[in-house]
Amino acid sequence: MASINELIAKRKPGFGLEQAFYRRDDIYAKEVSRIVLQSWLYVGHQSQVAAVGDFFTTELAGESVIIVRSGDSEIEALINVCRHRGSRVCLEDDGNARLFSCPYHAWSYNLDGSLRGAPQMANDIQFEDFGLKQAKLVNFHGLLFINFDTDANFDVIAADLDEPMQCYGLANAKVAHRQNYPMTANWKLAIENFCECYHCAPAHREFAVAHSAARPDSRFDARRDAVLANATACGLSTNMCSTSFDSPDYVGSERYIDRYALLKGHVTGSRDGGPVAPLMGSISDYDGGATDIQIGPLSYGLAYCDHVVLYRFMPTSINTTDCEVIWLVNESAVEGEDYSLEELVWLWDVTTKADKKIIEDNRRGVDSHFFEPGPFAPMEMYTEQFTEWYLNVMRSA
Ligand code: FES
Ligand code: FE
Repeated sequence: MASINELIAKRKPGFGLEQAFYRRDDIYAKEVSRIVLQSWLYVGHQSQVAAVGDFFTTELAGESVIIVRSGDSEIEALINVCRHRGSRVCLEDDGNARLFSCPYHAWSYNLDGSLRGAPQMANDIQFEDFGLKQAKLVNFHGLLFINFDTDANFDVIAADLDEPMQCYGLANAKVAHRQNYPMTANWKLAIENFCECYHCAPAHREFAVAHSAARPDSRFDARRDAVLANATACGLSTNMCSTSFDSPDYVGSERYIDRYALLKGHVTGSRDGGPVAPLMGSISDYDGGATDIQIGPLSYGLAYCDHVVLYRFMPTSINTTDCEVIWLVNESAVEGEDYSLEELVWLWDVTTKADKKIIEDNRRGVDSHFFEPGPFAPMEMYTEQFTEWYLNVMRSA
């Protein structure tokens, strides 16, 4: 069996990944430890843990984490593994708790993860040695990100994205809807698909009529210049950061934010091109654009003037991936009065269902005895960057 470095050496520049990268369990195990467990991962919005004791559990590549508000300004990410014999401690999806009690032998933990009780232990255990382990949690504009690497820092991402994300008022947004689109495909096929819009014209008619991203060179064309010239007057930032997978040998600072034009007749991503919700945050008018956002290798966003859509990809096994889509609107927006949920979610529901289908069809072909990596098109520039980043990370592993 070829080593990972031999497989990397075999790859032709400008071409996709060898089949082994989608199929070998040893490679998947290395991806989980080297990428998933060392990256910033979106887990939820702060409104999901509004009151002290509010919690939800989240599954990340086989790990379970309890996100809990332990104090007015503290939110913890507790690893859901009992320090006694290792049972899952919290078995609920969400709720409000005063403490977490392990269902196996009833060890109990405070909301900050510290051990509170360990019934009938004969030996004198030091309680401070047996608190639940924690992941690092960052609350960025109300969006909660965790990193299992407790030495990771968010500074580089925050420095580039803080100001341009300000106008959306995401800390005061509400989650209007969340939907999981599980895909029977390796996670990289989902990311490779998400990073390019070469497929948008053939596969996403609904998206392609509204977004210049479906056209070649939309990042650099005159339509984009016109949107940026208009943005400030509408309360939007023009500070962009178009680095993405730019730190090829370092996991932890992947970020991207860029604004591009919507096409004539469209002020947002909607069925008829018209508004679907009240303007977000401090935005005062529609400038005719939409902003792509990336935080970490698995979390993305598309910010329209009147709603923001987040996409979180998470491998659940070598051949299965969860794609969770989250729709955010202004906190004060009332469903049925200020927005119709059906109209709000229409575009990205239909688009994600189409992506699920093309990603799963892709996976069937990649599994074939006859599969051979092919060349990237210019419109697949970011997918090619992702591929280079991925190989560099795996090479250094
Ligand atoms: Fe949790 Fe024993 S495994 S109390
Ligand atoms: Fe797509």
